[in-house]
This record gives sequence, structure tokens and C-alpha cells, in this order.
Amino acid sequence: MISAEKIPNNVNLSSNKRLQRALEHWQPKYIQWWRDMGPQGFQDYHRVYVRTAISVDPEGWAHFEYVKLPEYRWGIFLADPTPDRRIGFGDFFGQPVWQEVPGEFRNQLRRLIVTQGDTEPASVEQQRLLGRRCPSLYDLRNLFQVNVEEGRHLWAMVYLLHSYFGRDGRDEAEELLERQSGNRDKPRILEAFNEPIDNWLDFFMFTMFTDRDGKSQLMSLSESSLDPLSRTTRFMLTEEAHHMFVGETGIARILERTCQLMKQAGYSEDVRKVGGIDIPTIQKHLNQWFSLSLDLHGSEVSSNAASYFANGLKGRAKEDTFDEHIVKNAYYNMEFFEDGKPVTKDVLMRNAMNEVLRDWYVGDCAAGVVRWNRIFEAHGMSDRLKLPDRKFHRGIGMYSGFHFDPDGVPLTAGQWEKRKYDWLPSEADSEYLLSIMAEPVYEPGTFANYIAPPRRGVNQQPVAFEYVRTEQ
Ligand SMILES: [Fe+2]
Ligand SMILES: [Fe+2]
Repeated sequence: MISAEKIPNNVNLSSNKRLQRALEHWQPKYIQWWRDMGPQGFQDYHRVYVRTAISVDPEGWAHFEYVKLPEYRWGIFLADPTPDRRIGFGDFFGQPVWQEVPGEFRNQLRRLIVTQGDTEPASVEQQRLLGRRCPSLYDLRNLFQVNVEEGRHLWAMVYLLHSYFGRDGRDEAEELLERQSGNRDKPRILEAFNEPIDNWLDFFMFTMFTDRDGKSQLMSLSESSLDPLSRTTRFMLTEEAHHMFVGETGIARILERTCQLMKQAGYSEDVRKVGGIDIPTIQKHLNQWFSLSLDLHGSEVSSNAASYFANGLKGRAKEDTFDEHIVKNAYYNMEFFEDGKPVTKDVLMRNAMNEVLRDWYVGDCAAGVVRWNRIFEAHGMSDRLKLPDRKFHRGIGMYSGFHFDPDGVPLTAGQWEKRKYDWLPSEADSEYLLSIMAEPVYEPGTFANYIAPPRRGVNQQPVAFEYVRTEQ
């Protein structure tokens, strides 16, 4: 049984009986999904030191406690309303924002919310085997923190579906629990969310790059004219920041450890011989998750993107930093690839909105890579990680179907086949990673050989804190 008190919320759930009943109906299915598809082996006998959102107050929005994962209090929170908020872009610029869904945009909005909602449980499914291979209790706790918050993001989208889309919304909410990551018959909607994440290098790259796509999308949805969508996604961004922290610092700690091991082993030695993760393997995983996440931003030229912008449904990241918000006669100078050669052409800016968001995303990723490279610098090493060219390994958009190396140099299909595992993880790389992660590390304060400890613990607790407790 649930009650409004069991669902922390700031949407006055107890006074909205219809919504409360709808969520009461959905909640047992969600818990069943969490048990079946959530973290395997960590449902009933472990208590995890996690934060739970209890308000949207920036000073104290979360509190920390030990909980059994299926008993996590998944809540519904919208950022506080902005008084007299106006539509910030597109054809309705300057008009008051909408508190209800306009009939003519109902299908488009539902599509946007369902697509966002589908990614949330998908990532939990992708990550469900990682607990048994964790490098430390600190990392195990971070994995579960990300997982429960992705669960909460699903709740956030389901709240919108139930509140604003009637019967269709209810059906969509059920289907969000029926599709499954990697399932041949009922896969998740977007491809990056059907790829397995079975080792921790994948996990950290995913939270660095794919959760950052989440940030792109949430930033553009937080500009939306549909005020409840804007407020919901604004609060989700608070949690998303931690997911990217987990990814960025996870990779940073692997790099730190790799540098230490290389130094100890003598630089010419293969770092795998001493149980570390070699830099080429790290670069390949970066290439993989960055390129998959570029695809998530959609086609370069898109009439859907133009329509979302015109209708005020999905804006640009940080819309208010742009000079002009109607964007009717502006052009984007885009690189096309024709007859084996790059050519640039002007495209109507509204049709290029996916690319505009991708530009923002690439810049945000590049800044992270600069921070990673400081670790090599600090060790006096000349190695560097870098983002591949955005044409590399694309499955969506105008570069898909062609082949490019990480510098963007075109390749024939034969050249690509011969060299692709120089740039992407191979079966042998995955086997190696699984071999060094076969034994989980459950001793507080102890870390797997391939990763350095973090600088500090969670919520001012020591690094050696018992972040996950096992019950008899
Ligand atoms: Fe999320
Ligand atoms: Fe996330």
C-alpha cells in the first residue's frame, strides 16, 4: 500500500485523489519491475546509504539514510514556479506559459515525454549486473544512487503522463515498464539504451557521456512552454549533476591508477600485466559512448526539431543566453558529406536545432576531457585522451552509413572493418575488463587494483565508511 506520505512530493498529491489512485495502481508494477530488472542480488539483504529527495529547497533538498533499495521513497518534485513565466522561444514567444497541454501539441508532447521517460528505466536495466563486480562499497553506493534516481526520473515522467494525458498517458506509463533494454521484441526506444553495460569502464563512460546527453535533453525541455514539464525537468537536472560526477570522477580515478601502475611497472611495460586498464582501452570506451551519445541528439537536419522549436515545446540549452528567440530567418552553416568530400551549406536554423544542441553537448564533453588530461600532465606523461570527430561511428544522421576514423577521415567499408577495433572495444577488451572485475570488493575502504580511491567520501562520511551494509 502507498499513501501520499510514502511518496514524497510537492505536488499536493493527497488533495488530488484521481492522480493518487492512478499512481497507486501503477506503483506495484513499478516495484515489481524494480525487483525483476533492477540491481541483481541487492534487493532484500542490503541497506544502502543513499540520498532521497525530500523537497526542492536548494539548501536541503535531500537527506541521507540507509534503505533497502525496493523501499526507496521515490518521490515527485517540481522546481518552484517562476512567477509570470513567459514562453521563451518559437512562434508563441512572449505569451504566458501553459499549465495544461494544448490539444494541437498533445501528440508531440507525449512523444517527447515518453522518449525521455523510456531512457530512465532503460539505464537501470543496463546496469543491473554491475553490483556483483563493484570496485568498492563507495562505488557500489554511487551505482545504486544513480539507479534509484533514474527510477525517480521515471516517476517524474509518469507523473506528467498520468496528470496531463488521460487514458493515453496511463497506457504509456504501463508500456514504460514493458519495454526492456536489449530485448529483441520490445527494445527501449533509443539505441544507446539497448547496449549492455557489463563492466565499470562502460558504466563510468555511460554516466559521463550518456547521462550528459540526459543533461542536454533536460536543459532543452526545461525551456518548454508546458510549465509542469519545465519545472519537472529543472529539478531532475539537480540529480543529473551527480550522475555525471560519478562518471567523470570514476574515469579520473582509473586514469590516476593507470598512471601510478605505469610508473611502477616502467613505462614500456603493458599495464595489463599489472592488472591496470591501459590508455588505449580507455580511449576506445570513450569513443564508443561519445559516438552513441551523439546519435541520441538526432539527425542534423530535422523537421521534427524545427516543429518542436516553433511550437515552443523544446528550446535550446540556456535559451536566454541567445540574442534572438524566434529564429525564423537565421541559418546554420553545416558540414555535409557529398561524393566523398565535405561541403558546407546553410540550413535554416530551426531545422538545425538538433545540431545546435549537439554543439552545446560536444563543448560540455570537451571540457570534461580537458579535466581528465590534467591527470596525465600531473604525472608528467604525454598521453592524452580526446573526443573523436563527430562523424566517427555514427548510426543516426547524415554520417551514418559512411565510415570515418576518429579524426574524421573517410574510410572504405573494407578499411573500417580492418581497423574498427583499433578504435572501439573488442571482445578481447571486454573479456580483459571482466577478468579484472570478476571479484567484487566489499571491504570498506578497499579498492580494486585498477582504480584509485576518491578524494573524499559521500556526504562528509569517510572514504572507508560502510556505504552498503549486508543484513543476515
Ligand atoms: Fe535520468
Ligand atoms: Fe542520469
